[in-house]
Parts: sequence; structure tokens; C-alpha cells
Amino acid sequence: MNDTITVISLTPSGLRFLDQTRLPRETIMIDTADYRIVIEAIRSLRLRGAPLIGIAAAYGLTLAAREWINTEQSDYDLFYDSMCSVCDAFAATRPTAVNLFWTLGRMRKLLGRRQSPETLTTVLEEEARALHADDARRCTAIGRHGVTLIPPHAGVITHCNTGALATGGDGTAFAVLLAAHRQGRDIHVFADETRPLLQGARLTMWELLRHGIPATLITDGTAAMLMRQGRVQVAITGADRIAANGDTANKIGTYALAVNAQHHGIPFYIAAPLSTMDMTLQSGDAIPIEERAGEEITRIGDTWIAPEGIDTYTPAFDVTPSELITGFITERGLLTPPFTETLHDPHP
Ligand code: MRU
Repeated sequence: MNDTITVISLTPSGLRFLDQTRLPRETIMIDTADYRIVIEAIRSLRLRGAPLIGIAAAYGLTLAAREWINTEQSDYDLFYDSMCSVCDAFAATRPTAVNLFWTLGRMRKLLGRRQSPETLTTVLEEEARALHADDARRCTAIGRHGVTLIPPHAGVITHCNTGALATGGDGTAFAVLLAAHRQGRDIHVFADETRPLLQGARLTMWELLRHGIPATLITDGTAAMLMRQGRVQVAITGADRIAANGDTANKIGTYALAVNAQHHGIPFYIAAPLSTMDMTLQSGDAIPIEERAGEEITRIGDTWIAPEGIDTYTPAFDVTPSELITGFITERGLLTPPFTETLHDPHP
């Protein structure tokens, strides 16, 4: 990502972040000192992508702590209760990406120290910055490990957006694409548009263009034909939550892509940091799947594309069964089947 673009950063006066709903036409930054604005931004996908949602919540909690100490109350118990309510509000924004709950868990643990609100505010801020930097390092490592799986001159298909816009660094699946491009592997990326909110068309194509990576935008339904034509050698996506058996929740349409890849004998990789693994869930059946408003598929902007008042079904994510996944590209390297053994105890 070009250094002049900030996706998210904490400043002395508040939080500055890029409004992703306005891309690619407009690059609008939002500056706020109000954690409620951050909650709204996560709900409305101004801030999105599994790792970035977690980072945004950590920064948002820091804003809430700063706001609290400005009231000049010094009672620890009141502060603790107030911050726990804010954590609950962030936890209620989006249910599927586990990174959000992982970072909130780390923040809650720090809040459990009986220290002054001023001290804890500094502690929370340092932790939020550390989580951000840590995710950036994980992205770099994912790119380093994943690049070895990309043959020269490969056509690589991806789904949704997994780049700097979705993480604290170069991305997950996108980090692999970027590393392959930087190593001169002469790859060509096919980006699924990713209905209905078009993260592939609006965001991934924008990022690919900024890095000069050769790429073609396709509708989600084009993937199978492209594979049959022999133009795709590898499929790679990110993840929002990975269960202990390897079943993986990611943007709606990922499952169909994995089925298509298996049918055509194409390896299907998931690139994700270990913070996306949820070892408390035995299988993907237990992953909570967010459902979005029906209007996200009946309208594009202000334009109705379906009759008003119709029935809709709008899961934002689907679960790809582990048997369709060739391997997980993590910051610790490639994890291959049997996943019940290789995904064991992934958290550092
Ligand atoms: O609804 P979104 O845009 O937050 O969904 C994002 C995805 O599904 C990504 O593929 C996933 O978070 C992995 S990104 C590093």
C-alpha cells in the first residue's frame, strides 16, 4: 500500500480511519474521538475485514477510556464496569470474525488489573498499538510463507478483500499475491467481484491497481468457467473464523469457489493469522453467521434492482468444509491435513 494512505491510526486527539464504503471513487478519512462512531463504522463496514475489525475495536476502547478519564472520576470499579459495557457494545457489532473477540478478550484481561483509570488508559492504548503492529508482522510472515505455493506465471483467483484494507499490514491472501508480484513471479490475479457489497470489485481491484499487480475483475459466477479454461492454477482467500477441524467461515461465495476449485483439481488455500482460529468450536456448524439487511441485495445504492417487499436471505459469510481446503497459510507456515492435529493449540 502506498504510504500516503492510512487505513487506521490512533492520534493524540482521536482515531483517524479510511471510510471504505466510499472507495474506490473517494478517499475520505474520518477523524473521531468518539468510540460510538467506531462502533457504527464497524457495523456499516466503513471498517471491515477480520483482523482490522479487532484492531479498530481495540483502538475504539482506548477512545472510550480517554473519554472516561476526562470526566475526572478515579474510581476503578466504575471505570471497569464502564469499559466492560463498551467491550460488550463492540462485541455486538459483527458476530462472525473471531479476531474481534480475540482482541476484546486481551483488552478485558488488562482491565482486570486493579490500577488507576489513567494508568489503565495508557495500558489499553499501548496494547491496541501492539495488536496493530503484531498483525502487520503476521501479514508479512503469511506473505513469506505463501509465496512458495505460487508457481511462476500462475493465474490466481481470490474472493472478497484481504489486503491492507482488511488487516494491520499487507493482508492475508493479499500479502501472498503481493509477495509473489514483488518476487517477479509474473502472476495474474482474478478478483471475484464479491456480491453483494463488492469488496472484490471496489477494494481488492483498488489495492491491486495501486501495487501494479496484473489483474482482471470477474463476477463471482465466472470462476468455474475460468477454471475450466485452464486460466487458474491456485485459489486463495482469507478467513473470518476457523474451527478446530479446519472448517472455515469467510465471505459468502467462498464455499462455492472451493467446490469449483476441487472439481477442477486446483489447490484452494486459506491465508489467515492464528488469531483467526477458534479452537473452542469443534466444527464450522457452530460458527455464528452474520445475516445482513435484505436491502443489501435488493438495492445498489439508491437504485432498486429487485421488487420491493420480497423475501431475501442474506448471510454475509459461508462455511467451507475443511475437506475442500488444501492448506492454511499462517504466520507459522503452511498447515496441512489432518487439520485436527495441525491446527492444535495455535495461539502463541
Ligand atoms: O464483511 P467483510 O468485508 O468484513 O468480510 C471480509 C472477509 O470476508 C475477508 O475475506 C476476511 O475478513 C479475511 S480478510 C483478512
